[in-house]
Amino acid sequence: MQTPSNSIAGSWDADGLWLNMRLMPGALVDGGSIATEVSMVVQRGLIAWLGASHELPQSCADLPRHDGGGALLGPALVDCHTHLVYGGQRASEFAMRLAGASYEEVARAGGGIVSSVRATREADEQTLFELAAKRLEALLAEGVCAIEIKSGYGLSLEHERKQLRVARQLGKAYGVTVRTTFLGAHALPPEYAGRSQDYIELVCKQMLPALHSEGLVDAVDVFCERIGFSLAETEQVFQAAQALGLRVKLHAEQLSDMGGSALAARFGALSCDHLEHLSSPGIAAMKAAGTVAVLLPGAYYALRDTHVPPIQALRDAGIPMAVSTDHNPGTSPTLSLLLMANMACTLFGLTVPEALDGITRHAARALGLQDTHGSLGVGRPANFVLWPLRDPAELAYWFGQRPACTVVRQGRIAVQPA
Ligand code: NIG
Ligand code: FE
Repeated sequence: MQTPSNSIAGSWDADGLWLNMRLMPGALVDGGSIATEVSMVVQRGLIAWLGASHELPQSCADLPRHDGGGALLGPALVDCHTHLVYGGQRASEFAMRLAGASYEEVARAGGGIVSSVRATREADEQTLFELAAKRLEALLAEGVCAIEIKSGYGLSLEHERKQLRVARQLGKAYGVTVRTTFLGAHALPPEYAGRSQDYIELVCKQMLPALHSEGLVDAVDVFCERIGFSLAETEQVFQAAQALGLRVKLHAEQLSDMGGSALAARFGALSCDHLEHLSSPGIAAMKAAGTVAVLLPGAYYALRDTHVPPIQALRDAGIPMAVSTDHNPGTSPTLSLLLMANMACTLFGLTVPEALDGITRHAARALGLQDTHGSLGVGRPANFVLWPLRDPAELAYWFGQRPACTVVRQGRIAVQPA
């Protein structure tokens, strides 16, 4: 694999004393903040001290200094739902939808996910790495330090493996936390047309065990939908995941209320994602299981959907709401998590603090990374961003431009304003 231009090799140590910063509201592990100017000590890549500058221990005064310039200090961002590794693009489907075809109609006509499967199968590992690396670089430049990457455009052992290997390789090359999700049950591959049950057995009995034994799978996902897989098929995949001790997630209730969220919650799902058609039994089950609701306003927008997820009911139930790009070539070809925060506010009615929690602490929880990512605290890895902004709301307010920022990822200064 080639070394990317802004790899860890090109970054430098963030150890030392970081001075002259303001803390984002809700940035601390306990959801709190500090009202006065703050300082932070980073040692061996971990946050060793964080507090009001006037309380800085004398012993830290001689450490090498980094001037925060009065910037806002916040946790680095987490993108908890992406399909980053694929070949080709699907602009022609965008045109078809504009001409009146629905996502389901495009899929049933042989386009949709299966068209990305064709292009992904044709691409070799190096090509997929190079394509995905460019996408990852855009996300990282905006402050992302942890990302979930799903398979699901291979739909055979060989090609799902290729996608997951690339995902792992991206994590190593860029010094970024990558959680891989096996999404073998994303669509029925053409060679299994009319034999859905046979394909699910291949997924459960061969693909998942093999990829798991190769260390390529951190979690398991299914597209539970009329144009995806049924509730019963989803349950089969979840049982296979459970037997291997793997956590599950679900593409649930995006186009219709299939009852997938309640099923996923019964399996202790980390998250249920999309949720435009989520109803009360699903909400109750998710609440009981501690499942995160992942909102994907990019897909909602691109499909010109009008059915908003039940935000107030999720809020009333106290279910953590994460926000993610869902980056994929079909329904959400965006590479801006901050744009998704903006859309979560404008399209779904989240408040700014909810949207910011959605791309940090709740997104980390959706990946099981809440102890290390998504908020700031002593002993945690130094994953943070300095935003030279006046008002924290600016993070969700500007759109279509990337704010200048300094990103420290895994204890390295990885991005700096040009
Ligand atoms: O999350 N809904 C299913 N999966 C993707 C779309 C994949 C595609 O159309 O390529 C999603 O929106
Ligand atoms: Fe998705």
